[in-house]
This record gives sequence, C-alpha cells and structure tokens, in this order.
Amino acid sequence: MPISSKQFAKQLITWQKIHGRHHLPWQVSDAYAVWVSEIMLQQTQVSTVLNYYPRFMARFPTVTALASADIDDVLSLWSGLGYYSRARNLHRAAQYIATHYGGQFPQHAALLAELPGIGRSTAAAIAAFAFGQREAILDGNVRRVFTRVFAIEGWPGNKAIEQQLWQLAESLLPDAAEIQPYTQGLMDLGSLVCRRGQPDCGSCPFTQDCLANQQGRQRQLPTPRPKREIPQREVRWLLLYDTEGRVFLEKRPPTGIWGGLWSLPEWTAEHTSLAQRLQELAVIAEDAAEAPAPLHAVTHQFTHFHLTAYPYPLAVRTRAECRESASCWVNAAELAHIGLAAPVRRLLETWMSSLF
Ligand code: ADE
Repeated sequence: MPISSKQFAKQLITWQKIHGRHHLPWQVSDAYAVWVSEIMLQQTQVSTVLNYYPRFMARFPTVTALASADIDDVLSLWSGLGYYSRARNLHRAAQYIATHYGGQFPQHAALLAELPGIGRSTAAAIAAFAFGQREAILDGNVRRVFTRVFAIEGWPGNKAIEQQLWQLAESLLPDAAEIQPYTQGLMDLGSLVCRRGQPDCGSCPFTQDCLANQQGRQRQLPTPRPKREIPQREVRWLLLYDTEGRVFLEKRPPTGIWGGLWSLPEWTAEHTSLAQRLQELAVIAEDAAEAPAPLHAVTHQFTHFHLTAYPYPLAVRTRAECRESASCWVNAAELAHIGLAAPVRRLLETWMSSLF
C-alpha cells in the first residue's frame, strides 16, 4: 500500500525541520531573491550557486536594478555558471516585470510561468516560497522521489507519466501554511538523500513506506529514457584505380561528416547509380561490361548514425580529370600526407598493399 497523502506531507515536513536546509541566503520572502536563486539552481548544485548568488544580488539587488542593467554586465556575473540562456531570460523577465507589473512580481504561479525562463515547476517554487501559495513543484529531484516512493514505472519524460506525476504532486500538497517546509523538504530529500546514484535509504523518512525500497528497486527507478534506435546509413564508394597504382579521391564538402577531408567518390543507391557517377567523372572503365563486385563493407559509428560503406573497385584506362583542389589521383606514399577519414585510410592502405 502506498503511503497516504497526509502521512507523506507530515513525515516530509518533520524530516525537513530537523534534517533539511534552513540557512540558505535565498530562504527569504523576497520574490526577486527567490526567483534569482531558483533560476541559478536549475541544472546547478547548491554549493556552486552559493559562490555566485551573493555577488549577483549585491550587484543587482532588485528586479528594477536588473532590468536597467546592461546584458553584458549580467552575463559577466553569470560567467562560469553555464547555460547562459538562463541569464538572458532573467534579464528579459526583469524588464517585463519592470514595465508590465511596475516592478512587482505577480503572485500567481500561472502568471509567473508566462515569464521567460520560468517553467511550471519554477513558477510553483517561487509562488510557494515567496508568497506561501499552495502550488506543486516537479523538478528532476522530485520526480526521482515520487517514482521511487510510489514505484511509478515508465520514463518520466513520457507525456502520460509526466501527467501522472503532476497529478500525484498536486494530491500530496499540505495546507498552504506548511507549503514552504514541504516544498523545501522535497528538494532537500531529492538532493541529499534520495540521490540518483547512491540513495541513502537508511536516512530517509520514507524507509518503511517507499515501494521501491520494499521491492529493492531504488536503482531501477526512475525508469531511464528508452535508448534511441540509431539510424543506419548505407553508401557506396567508388574505388577507381589506374595502372600506375593510383586511386581517385574527392574532397568532401566543408560541412557534414568528414568535412574538408579527402574521401572516395560516394553515392547512394536511392539517389543515383554507378553508371551515372562514372559519367559525371568522365571515366571509361577497363571493362565496362562487367559491374564491379563490392569489397568488404566498411563500418563506422557516428553519434547520430551508423555508416556502412560498400567500396566498388574499378580499374580505368581513361583517368578521371583532377578538378582543381576538389579531386586528385594519389599513390600509396602520398596517402600518408593528406587528410583522410580514418576508415577510408584503413581501407586504402589494406587494399592498395594487396593490389600493387
Ligand atoms: N533546488 C532548486 N531550488 C532549490 C532550493 N530552493 N533549495 C535547494 N535546492 C534547490
């Protein structure tokens, strides 16, 4: 049986009061201070934020001070925190608040969520901490706590699971009077105890109630993102060689894979044919009647796709023209001095040593 909502909030708040974080510089009722800290704490740990937050607040103590600041000054105080779009959004949102709300933060999560850089969870955290509003948060740490305590299966990035988690988050909320220790408790439990790699279940207020702990499945939850199928791409390479032991290479376009490196003329069966490619290169094959058989395929794994290339060797009697700096004929010795993609180099070195 999962723990009841009432018990969940009660045990969390009791734990937070004893073991949670209480003296962070942004634990004040000033919405501006809470907002700046929540934005800094997105994707950044408390210990790092503690090195930046005081300087930022000293320089821009109010939302109007931030609104009238030069963006370069804002970015310079953000320098080292990373994810600079956070600083740009902070600056834009400050200007919006200064112009549209007379420098006063709106008190409702729904209005806060309309500001640049403030998503649903951040809006709820600001509304709860600064204005005592009964709003539910759901950041990465909180998702981890919920999926474990309530043994919720499925990747939380999935829309249906996310919706289920938001519903749960809403259903667990205590009265508004306790929203601050409750919200802080969720954040603290997620980052200090219910950690991703090594959950400290012995120190958790939900040791007895946590379904993942009961089932010994803390490490399987939350369910990781499903592995993406990596697309396969098949290409054909033309391995033209002449009687003097030279192969024909083309320079690849500057962008795309192996940009600017030398490679073999390439085509794909869907887009063109060997005959067409030979015609483009003005090549007359030694024995044009017989279609060449491919050599062993070359494979290479890129981050976003796996490449399989089939090299088609073909002897020529008329040399393809060398087009200035875009194509050339090279012998085995020259290969060592030009920029070649590693799999092409391996293929040519092996093949040329066996042939010539
Ligand atoms: N992470 C996000 N918001 C936080 C807060 N207010 N305290 C500690 N960690 C947080």
